[in-house]
Amino acid sequence: MIPDYYFFDTFHGKRLHLGVTGSVAAYKALDLLRAFCRLEIQVGITLTHAATQFIAPLSCTSLGADPVHTTFFTSSSHFAHLEPASANAFLVAPATANILAKMAHGIADEILSCQLLGYAGPVLAAPAMNPRMWSASVTQENWQTLLRRGVWGIGPDCGQVACGDTGQGKMSGLDQIFIATLRALAPQDLAGLKIMLTVGPTQEYFDCARFWSNPSTGTMGAALAVAAALRGAEVTVVHGPVNITWPSFITTVPVVSAREMFAAAQDIFPTQDIGCFTAAVADFSPPVCSQGKFKKDGSPLTLTFEPNPDILATLSSAKKDYQRTIGFAAEVEDLHAHAQRKLKQKNLDLIVANAIGSPDSGFASMTNRVLLLDRFGREEQWPLLKKTEIAWRIWDWMGMNTP
Ligand code: C5P
Repeated sequence: MIPDYYFFDTFHGKRLHLGVTGSVAAYKALDLLRAFCRLEIQVGITLTHAATQFIAPLSCTSLGADPVHTTFFTSSSHFAHLEPASANAFLVAPATANILAKMAHGIADEILSCQLLGYAGPVLAAPAMNPRMWSASVTQENWQTLLRRGVWGIGPDCGQVACGDTGQGKMSGLDQIFIATLRALAPQDLAGLKIMLTVGPTQEYFDCARFWSNPSTGTMGAALAVAAALRGAEVTVVHGPVNITWPSFITTVPVVSAREMFAAAQDIFPTQDIGCFTAAVADFSPPVCSQGKFKKDGSPLTLTFEPNPDILATLSSAKKDYQRTIGFAAEVEDLHAHAQRKLKQKNLDLIVANAIGSPDSGFASMTNRVLLLDRFGREEQWPLLKKTEIAWRIWDWMGMNTP
């Protein structure tokens, strides 16, 4: 299952060529195709002869691939072997040991290897094979040759493969293949920047079984982190307890409480260019129960909460000249006034504010309606948008406003 926060509309109209080779994992290429089509990426496909034993060309056509190649010799084109040249990227998934060997040695004895030889753009490969075939020294040498030449390698993962053996050789998850492919298709305008994000809720335990928290799912922060990483930034995410699938090219630091988040962010932020603070940090923490767990004895439970450090305000007030910070504000009323006050009080470059209380924005929704104010006095109220779209536009905004 590919998560919704991986679907960025900006990829509409890009062209991808997908090569499918003869591994049992070939059936998964159909789900990948559907995911790319959901983004309105135009996908051409080439199936090797072995791949057609696992999936039918008609399945690819029916799901939206155009063209679908299986042979050099078609009635419609004499140049099928050169057709992918205009694609923005070429993905081989699953990639067998055989196609890796051909790619490494320039062998072009069937349609797919010939197309790969004639393709000059970014090539990605997601190997899938038995672990003994993967660890064979010849496969390893071929793989290293391909990586050295600039092929983007995805996996393979460790796990149980179709024949029952366990080890490295399993094709990576579709989410990782999908997001790595988008990265090859994305502009690299944030390359060279280090960006830290805080994401999700924090949990403040008051005994070993109970905590105080909020309903943040981390979706907005995840969309921002993924968008920045797709655009070439080196991204580190400090996140509370969330159920987010992170791309393998994002560094993650899991924490539980606000104080742990503060300690991690304090360590990381000094080396970063931008800090983006999306976390819904608990502002107070309860005292920790000394007896393990509070017992029910019929009397009320009274706890005195202590304020937590404001991570954003602390780090942003001490930031260096070249560092920039983005804050978020979820407000019930007076959105504009609160946003303006926090922009100044927390020494921010940009504040992104949203009203909470409606089901289509804020916590746990895939959409949001935000107001942006920056330190140059620019203000914009955006309409209801997908969080992925908001994330993409926020990075555009940061680029536009580089002093
Ligand atoms: O003051 P308020 O909690 O509304 O500010 C929200 C912003 O401050 C968010 O960007 C949030 O991540 C950050 N924040 C923080 N540490 C806290 C409270 C909020 O970093 N303890």
